[in-house]
Amino acid sequence: MILEREKGPNLAQLGRQYTGLLKEFGAQSSFDSLTQFSAMMQVYAGAMREISTKLENLDDEFQYKNISNPIHHMESRLKSLQSILAKLQRRGLPLEMKSIKNNIRDIAGIRVVCNYIDDVYRVSELLSKQSDVSVLRVKDYIKDPKPNGYRSLHIIYTVPVFLSEGPRVTPVEVQYRTIAMDYWASLEHQLRYKNSLPDADIAKHSATLLECSRQLSSVEESMQNIHRDILKQEEKKAGTVSLSELL
Ligand code: GTP
Ligand code: MG
Repeated sequence: MILEREKGPNLAQLGRQYTGLLKEFGAQSSFDSLTQFSAMMQVYAGAMREISTKLENLDDEFQYKNISNPIHHMESRLKSLQSILAKLQRRGLPLEMKSIKNNIRDIAGIRVVCNYIDDVYRVSELLSKQSDVSVLRVKDYIKDPKPNGYRSLHIIYTVPVFLSEGPRVTPVEVQYRTIAMDYWASLEHQLRYKNSLPDADIAKHSATLLECSRQLSSVEESMQNIHRDILKQEEKKAGTVSLSELL
């Protein structure tokens, strides 16, 4: 498994941007100090680390038990101040730290890219069952894809982050998807945000992407069935650990 990790917030960089961004969004008077904002972001970084470690441990356990690794790779990110302020503004919420804590659940975000759809559900269920993790919200766009064809399983968890003054229960958004779903979402994202194509071409490509999503889904199902068969044989041969034992 290849793990890609971004470091926590870069405070020096944040300091330089902080005042400018608050001014741009007209939030100078209502926002707390940079120190308080940074302290809040540290907690989100801690929660992201907690969940990432849990996912890594699960993946390692599968490897140890000689079953193929369910996680292909993970990416994590902390939402930038600019995106946070833009989201608050878009939703008509007050530009205050309290409003971030109460309304924005995707400050800490992890993307878990799995090999197969079975892996997505296996890993997400195992994490959801852990005693110190709670599930706040589930959006299953694999069972019900978005109208544009987007597929992924989004789960918002909460996990306690233990600070010197005690635990802080903090939300982390995890997007689980397969390699095929990730491949599709990257191109769709590019088409939506990073192109200067005429509207007619965008519409045409969007329709093609919807068809691609359906085709990928069907290809994935066929490949999943082959993989299930291989795993079943492997289990029989090993005769020790069964997948159901892990679920
Ligand atoms: P926002 O976070 O404000 O978007 O609202 P939400 O949390 O209700 O949205 P949702 O959980 O549906 O999706 C959040 C994230 O999923 C986005 O920030 C994207 O990373 C990803 N996502 C959702 N829909 C799409 C889509 O149609 N295409 C792509 N490429 N990514 C998507
Ligand atoms: Mg979101």
